[in-house]
Amino acid sequence: FFFQAEDGIRDDLVTGVQTCALPIFPTRAFSSFTFLIMQQTDFLVIGSGIAGLSFAIKCAEEFPDRKILVITKATADETNTKYAQGGIAVVSDPETDSFEKHVDDTLIAGDGLCNEAIVRKLVEEGPARVEEIIEWGARFDKDDQGTYKKGKEGGHSAHRILHHKDVTGQEMERALLQAVASFSNIQLIKHCFVVDLITQHHRGFLITKSTPDIICYGVYVLNRETNTIDKILSRVTVLATGGVGQVYRATTNPVIATGDGVAMAYRAKGRIENMEFIQFHPTALYEPGLRGQAFLITEAVRGEGAKLRNHQGDDFMRHYDTRKDLAPRDIVARAIDSEMKKSGTEHVWLDCRSIDQKRFREHFPNIYEKCLSIGVNIHQQLIPVAPAAHYSCGGIKTNEWGATSIVNLYACGECASTGVHGANRLASNSLLEAMVFAHRCFVDAKSKIAHIDFQLDIPDWNAKGTTEPREMILITQSLKELQQIMSDYVGIVRNDIRLQRASRRLDLLFEETEQLYQSTTVSPQLLELRNMITIGYLIVKCASFRKESRGLHYNTDYATKQPMAQNIVL
Ligand code: FAD
Ligand code: SIN
Repeated sequence: FFFQAEDGIRDDLVTGVQTCALPIFPTRAFSSFTFLIMQQTDFLVIGSGIAGLSFAIKCAEEFPDRKILVITKATADETNTKYAQGGIAVVSDPETDSFEKHVDDTLIAGDGLCNEAIVRKLVEEGPARVEEIIEWGARFDKDDQGTYKKGKEGGHSAHRILHHKDVTGQEMERALLQAVASFSNIQLIKHCFVVDLITQHHRGFLITKSTPDIICYGVYVLNRETNTIDKILSRVTVLATGGVGQVYRATTNPVIATGDGVAMAYRAKGRIENMEFIQFHPTALYEPGLRGQAFLITEAVRGEGAKLRNHQGDDFMRHYDTRKDLAPRDIVARAIDSEMKKSGTEHVWLDCRSIDQKRFREHFPNIYEKCLSIGVNIHQQLIPVAPAAHYSCGGIKTNEWGATSIVNLYACGECASTGVHGANRLASNSLLEAMVFAHRCFVDAKSKIAHIDFQLDIPDWNAKGTTEPREMILITQSLKELQQIMSDYVGIVRNDIRLQRASRRLDLLFEETEQLYQSTTVSPQLLELRNMITIGYLIVKCASFRKESRGLHYNTDYATKQPMAQNIVL
């Protein structure tokens, strides 16, 4: 079942009109660039995280004579993938675990909104995908007998998380990039910002949400070499653009997580689903005054026995859930939020003192060092932690093959809504989902590529009438406002008044930013702000449509669930 929202949806978001003239605002993420040497490609992959790279490798293996272009707006490895800590959930030991158990755990976490058939595909196809990445060179920790070590996280009924110490994502990203480099038919372009998907809209046709067969012909990109907006034509395009965490003030996500793919798909009139389900990780390291990416203290630490404590020293999770510190994330994050509100403090504590010191340092060396660097010896002191925006469960709606509602456009990884996560994602299921559905996109695209031609009559980007922006503050201040609005009104606990307020304030930000976009030359910062406002709008819209509390969406005006679980599709 899904609730299809057509009325009252902002339909005045259109794809862009202009060229970029000069590099206006130099930043960390866009400080260098690589030449664009290809204007047409068979497979165009946007994103160099686990989803995009897995897809690219498979295409390169299968089609040695076809061109695969991977584009990323930052350095090759600056992705959410790189920061994954806990590991990848997969059934690997039939004595202690089973597909049925993993399916059940995923469905329970998803709170009535997972697509069970899709969850089964995730769980049953998962082991083959993990074997593949091991063949591509990824290493997971083993014990002295050579058996893979398996961690446990919230909501899992078995030890099933394969990991590489506490830097699993970094290891997987390393292996994937190394594999990519071994294929001469893959070109990876860094620091290249994809602005918009090209569809019939750009050929002068009127496109609405109800237009059947909207087709993706490629993308417009901001070329930092020439500072123009170029077009790249593709037969098949894959959005693998990752998460949206930067929409919030406190997030575990790196600066690249600005929801560009979801915003682009929405502008192109693709279907977007369940954006209200933003997962807040309970335990990001609290550092006073920090803005931007917060360091994660992986849930696997609680899997090893760490306990949350409030400012009175009470291990409070026992009052909230029988699973205590290993309850699913939404429950733990809400419990922490409630404790913080009661005590008027900005964090609670994580107590790791009971964990064997050698064991801790072997499994979590990175966390140990990070805590020491801010003066916390985890064997003697408590770690200050607070929830932070972590993962987007919704996104671009796809079918079981990763195909979106737009023809020749696929989506996989965090930007996609496949039906796996429902209202709440089970810990460590996302790396698995990215690999399983990247594979499914590949299988489907493989069967179609021979029948797809390039669309050649695409106009160049038109920047007539735009001038250079005069003040960066217009962008930076709007971003701060957006993050403030989303954190204060659309965070862990919501209600109707807060959502209405957020909606009105976002309207203003939207209008001001569109004005800027229409009148000035574009920069990555302006494009990201515009995308993030769209993401904020989609989260608020879906949250307002959902008249219940379910999974990660908790609205105090509707304490209970509706009898029938529905997806919200915009
Ligand atoms: P990403 O890895 O985020 O890659 C996105 C790519 O898209 C980047 O290359 C980016 O530059 C590019 N891009 C975006 N927009 C544009 C644009 N406009 N133009 C060009 N390029 C663009 N999951 C687990 O399963 N287990 C874990 O232990 C785990 N731990 C985590 C810890 C942290 C701190 C975080 C943040 C997440 C964690 N997750 C974990 C979630 C998981 O890491 C992500 O969901 C997953 O890695 C997303 O992969 P992806 O390929 O979809 O996107
Ligand atoms: C963690 O290591 O706690 C994060 C795992 C995840 O987000 O799946």
